[in-house]
Amino acid sequence: MESEDTICYCFHISKRKILNFLRLHQPRRASQLSECGGAGTGCGWCVPYLKRYFEESRAGLSASVDLLTPEAYARQRAEYIRAGKGTPPGGAGAEVEASP
Ligand code: FES
Repeated sequence: MESEDTICYCFHISKRKILNFLRLHQPRRASQLSECGGAGTGCGWCVPYLKRYFEESRAGLSASVDLLTPEAYARQRAEYIRAGKGTPPGGAGAEVEASP
């Protein structure tokens, strides 16, 4: 995952935007990342990633390398939605489907 890749599909928020928010606002809790355009408040898929970026930021670490490709991330999120584990707000991001 590169900085321009989307982390929160529900609200179309990039990794760069998340990392910039962490750097500029230095939130005290991971849940405050919701103030970054609503990140994490939709289907919930991205929450573990948001928490990890938050923890790395708190520890003074730069964001670790994400081993997932953007395609794999999107595919896993689509599977998460299809499995009924989360519902995108108003269907936002529901168009993200896995490639066969
Ligand atoms: S992908 Fe972030 S809340 Fe759905």
